[in-house]
Amino acid sequence: MACLHLGSLFLLLGLVGFASFPAEAAIKKYQFDIQVKNVSRLCHAKPIVTVNGRFPGPTIYVHEGDRVLVNVTNHAQYNMSIHWHGLKQFRNGWADGPAYITQCPIKSGNSYTYDFNVTGQRGTLWWHAHILWLRATVYGAIVIMPEEGTPYPFPQPYMEANLLLGEWWNTDVEEVVKKGSKLGLPPAMSDAHTINGKPGPLFPCSEKHTFAMEVEWGKTYLLRIINSALNDELFFAIAGHTMTVVEIDAVYTKPFTTQTLLIAPGQTTNVLVKANKAPGRYFMAARPFNDVPIPVDNKTATAIFEYKGVPKTIIPILPQLPTPNDTEFVMSYNDKLRSLNSPKFPAKVPLKVDRHLFYTIGLGRNPCATCVNGTQLTASLNNITFMMPQVGLLQAHYFKVKGVFRTDFPDRPLTTFNYTGAPLTANLGTSSGTRLSKVAFNSTVELILQDTNLLTVESHPFHLHGYNFFVVGRGIGNFNPAKDPAKFNLVDPPERNTVGVPTGGWTAIRFRADNPGVWFMHCHLELHTSWGLKMAFVVEDGKGKDDSVLPPPKDLPLC
Ligand SMILES: *[C@@H]1O[C@H](CO)[C@@H](O)[C@H](O)[C@H]1NC(C)=O
Ligand SMILES: *[C@@H]1O[C@H](CO)[C@@H](O)[C@H](O)[C@H]1NC(C)=O
Ligand SMILES: *[C@@H]1O[C@H](CO)[C@@H](O)[C@H](O)[C@H]1NC(C)=O
Ligand SMILES: *[C@@H]1O[C@H](CO)[C@@H](O)[C@H](O)[C@H]1NC(C)=O
Ligand SMILES: *[C@@H]1O[C@H](CO)[C@@H](O)[C@H](O)[C@H]1NC(C)=O
Ligand SMILES: *[C@@H]1O[C@H](CO)[C@@H](O)[C@H](O)[C@H]1NC(C)=O
Ligand SMILES: *[C@@H]1O[C@H](CO)[C@@H](O)[C@H](O)[C@H]1NC(C)=O
Ligand SMILES: *[C@@H]1O[C@H](CO)[C@@H](O)[C@H](O)[C@H]1NC(C)=O
Ligand SMILES: *[C@@H]1O[C@H](CO)[C@@H](O)[C@H](O)[C@H]1NC(C)=O
Ligand SMILES: *[C@@H]1O[C@H](CO)[C@@H](O)[C@H](O)[C@H]1NC(C)=O
Repeated sequence: MACLHLGSLFLLLGLVGFASFPAEAAIKKYQFDIQVKNVSRLCHAKPIVTVNGRFPGPTIYVHEGDRVLVNVTNHAQYNMSIHWHGLKQFRNGWADGPAYITQCPIKSGNSYTYDFNVTGQRGTLWWHAHILWLRATVYGAIVIMPEEGTPYPFPQPYMEANLLLGEWWNTDVEEVVKKGSKLGLPPAMSDAHTINGKPGPLFPCSEKHTFAMEVEWGKTYLLRIINSALNDELFFAIAGHTMTVVEIDAVYTKPFTTQTLLIAPGQTTNVLVKANKAPGRYFMAARPFNDVPIPVDNKTATAIFEYKGVPKTIIPILPQLPTPNDTEFVMSYNDKLRSLNSPKFPAKVPLKVDRHLFYTIGLGRNPCATCVNGTQLTASLNNITFMMPQVGLLQAHYFKVKGVFRTDFPDRPLTTFNYTGAPLTANLGTSSGTRLSKVAFNSTVELILQDTNLLTVESHPFHLHGYNFFVVGRGIGNFNPAKDPAKFNLVDPPERNTVGVPTGGWTAIRFRADNPGVWFMHCHLELHTSWGLKMAFVVEDGKGKDDSVLPPPKDLPLC
C-alpha cells in the first residue's frame, strides 16, 4: 500500500498553517526504493529492477490539488529516473523525469525527491522509469481522485481496480537491448504480455501468476487500464461483457460502449463494467494490434473476471479480440473518442493557431561497420535522429549553458516527397543532432505528425511531456493542408497526452504552450525512442511573475 506519513503531513501543514491550503489539499509522501529482486515468470527466474521490491510498483494515490513528494532512492546498479506520465508539472520540469532532458540520472546510492502538485487533472495516469529500457519492470499506476466531495461525472462505481498491461522478457531486458544495438537489429521481442505483472494461464508455470478480480453480481466496477508495454499497442476485452469508456489519459470523455478497447503504450483508459451476466468466470485478455508485416510478440495475456460464489475450477471463456491487423476497428474506435466538454470540464481547443508545425516520422538505416548487415536501424523526425546530450537540457536552458543543444529544429521537412507512397528503401540515412524547437510562451501550436514509408509505414504512439493536447484530426495518406483542416473537430476532440499516428497516415494535434520549460516529445514505442524518434520543445518563459520555470530543487541530481 501507499506509504503515507501522516505525521510529517500534519507537521508540514502545521508549519504553513491550515488557512493557506484548501481544506482538502494534502501532502502525500512516498518512498521509492529502487531495488533488484528475483522474480519468476514463465518458468524463468531472473533479477529485475523494481520499486520497493514490487512488480508492478506501488500506486500513487492522490486527490486533485494534493502535493506529492516521492523520495526515489537508487539501490540498483543502473542509473535511474522516474517520469510521472501525463502529469503537467506546471513550471516544474525538474519533476518530469526523462533522463538527460529534465534531469541527470539518480546515480546508484543517491536519492532525489520529486516534488510536484497535482493541479487541474483527475483520473488515471502512471509512472515509469525514463532511462534505458528499465520501464520494462519499473512502472505503476497514478490514481488522481476528484477533489474531496466532487463526484465523478458518471455513475459512482461500487469498486475500482487498476489493470496495468505490460511485457515480459525471460532474459535481462538491458542485455537484450545491448545485443540488438550491437547487431544493428531490433532486440528480441518480449516472451509474454502481462496484466498486473502476470501473464495468465495461457502461459506455462502461470497458474499462480494470474490476476483475478472478484465481482458481485449487479454491481458496477471502474477499471483503470494502463498500457505499460514497451512496444505494443494492445486490444483489451472482457469475455461476455461490454465496457463503457468514461475517461482517457485523465480527461473525461463522452461515454460510449464497446466490446474492445485499443490502448497504445503510454495511454490510459477508464471504463465502467457492469457485472450483470451469468455468474461465472470470464477472461480479460490483451493482445497486440499490428497492421504491418513486422514481427511482434502477438501472444495473449489473460486475467480473470470472476463472480463471487462461483467455483474457481470453472475454466473461463476467452473474449473475441479483433484480428491483429484490424485497422478498420482501430479507426472506428478512435472516431468514438470525444472529450466530455461539459460546462465544468470544457474542451479549451485553440481555435487560432500561432505556429504551424509539420513533422515527418521516418525509419531509416545508417551505415554501421560492426553490424551484421553493415547497417544500423534508426528513426527520425523531419529526418533528424535525436542525439541524447550528456547533461540535462532543462538545466542547460535554465542556466543558459551554451553548446548543449541547438534551437533550429525545422518546422517542416527540408525535402518534401510522397510521404506515404511506395516504400523507399534507398537513401535511408538521416542527419543527427540535439536540435530543439523554440516556442513562444502561451502561443498556440498545431502539429501535424505525418507517417512516412521510409523502409515501411507503421503506427506510432506519440507522447508529449508537460501538456495535454487536442487530437483535432487524423487521416490516411498524406496530410492535405488545403482540404483536411476543414474536417478538424474543434468542438470536442479527445484531449490526451499520447496519441497514435495511424499506419501510413497523419494526426493533427493542438495545444497552448502555457507551460514554460523543456518538454520531450517522442514515440512511446521504446524501440523507436532508442532509435532516435524523439525531440524536445523549449517553451520560453513569459513576462508575468508566474510565467517562468521555477528554480531547480536543491537535490536535483548532477551529471
Ligand atoms: C536469483 O536467482 C538466481 C537464479 O535462480 C540465483 O542464482 C541468484 O542467487 C538469486 N539472487 C537472489 C538475490 O536471490
Ligand atoms: C530519501 O531516502 C533516503 C533513504 O531512505 C534517505 O537517506 C534520505 O534522507 C531521504 N531524503 C529525504 C529528503 O527525505
Ligand atoms: C505546490 O503548491 C504549494 C502550495 O500552493 C506551493 O507552495 C509549491 O510551491 C507548489 N510546488 C510546485 C512545484 O509548484
Ligand atoms: C502470431 O505470430 C505467429 C508468427 O510469429 C503466427 O504464426 C501466428 O498465427 C500469430 N498469431 C496470431 C493470433 O496472429
Ligand atoms: C489480416 O490477417 C488475416 C490473417 O490473420 C488475413 O487473412 C487478412 O488478409 C489480413 N487482412 C489485411 C487487411 O491485411
Ligand atoms: C539483416 O541480417 C539479418 C541476419 O543476417 C537478416 O535476417 C535480415 O534479413 C537482414 N535485414 C535487413 C533489413 O537487411
Ligand atoms: C503517392 O503515392 C501513392 C501510392 O503509391 C499514389 O497513389 C499517389 O498518387 C502518389 N501521390 C503523388 C502526389 O504522387
Ligand atoms: C535525410 O538526410 C540525409 C543526410 O543528410 C540525406 O542523405 C537524406 O536524403 C535525407 N532524407 C530525406 C528523406 O530527406
Ligand atoms: C494566454 O493567452 C490566452 C488567450 O489570449 C489568455 O486568455 C491567457 O490569459 C494567457 N495566459 C497567460 C498566462 O498569459
Ligand atoms: C550514470 O550517469 C552519470 C551521469 O550522466 C554517468 O556519468 C555515468 O556513466 C552513468 N553510470 C552508468 C552506470 O551508466
